[in-house]
Amino acid sequence: MFDIKPVSDVIGAEVSGADLAEVDDAAFDEIQLAWMEHCVLLFRDQKIDAGELVAFSKRFGELDIAPPNENGEGGFGGFSEVLVLSNVKENGKAIGALGNAEAQWHTDMNYLDKPPTGSVLLSVEVPDKGGDTGFSNMYRALEDLPSSIRQRVEGLKIKHDSSTNSGGYLREGAEPVTDVTTCPGAIHPIIRTHPETGRKALYLGRRRSAYIMGMSLEGSELLLDELWAHASQPKYAWHHQWRIGDVVIWDNRCSMHRRDSFDDSKRRIMHRTQIMGDRPF
Ligand code: SIN
Repeated sequence: MFDIKPVSDVIGAEVSGADLAEVDDAAFDEIQLAWMEHCVLLFRDQKIDAGELVAFSKRFGELDIAPPNENGEGGFGGFSEVLVLSNVKENGKAIGALGNAEAQWHTDMNYLDKPPTGSVLLSVEVPDKGGDTGFSNMYRALEDLPSSIRQRVEGLKIKHDSSTNSGGYLREGAEPVTDVTTCPGAIHPIIRTHPETGRKALYLGRRRSAYIMGMSLEGSELLLDELWAHASQPKYAWHHQWRIGDVVIWDNRCSMHRRDSFDDSKRRIMHRTQIMGDRPF
């Protein structure tokens, strides 16, 4: 039904010929299969509003209620599932989360016991340059992990701190972390199994304030540095330059993503939904 072409050698495919405002069961099955194969899908030139974004996203499962942005506000246009990511300020107040800052490599909400399965992002307004989003393939990163490191991480778990978001902002009500060994956080295996494909992937979450359970602080920091140096190599990544009307869906169970900073005098507005997930295993 659709034309599906990889956008890189390592991750992502563009799906042409789909109107996400009208996805029937057959179309959805094809999209779902492509998503499992490529981890990230790009749909160009979509003319959908927040309600249609929510309806499309709900095809993949129940949606999370959007977390509050740095102003403590969430939702958009009457849809509590939509998170606005933006640097735009109205009446001196940010209308969305993350501002114009770089967001470092991460998976979404890894600090929850049940992090989202995936995220869907619609570009509403984008700057002419900057603000690109990169996606990296954590199946590949695990396949390539040197066996000396793999043997050391088999069976180990990371505690994922929740105090800051990917832009480095302290979340509402969170205490700054002073000791990663005792701070609260969800605990997940470093090597996780994708529940739908059965494939294994590296699951690192985010670097800041992470801790490998049962290790000395120094040992944990050294091993995390090795894992991150490996997983964030450019050879696992594809970077997307946004156009208005792009929709990208990524699989949080087998990919990481990051965002470039951009000129704060330019407007960038994105709408994101997240599909509820299960506990990683
Ligand atoms: C994110 O979800 O980390 C932000 C992605 C983006 O703004 O491109």
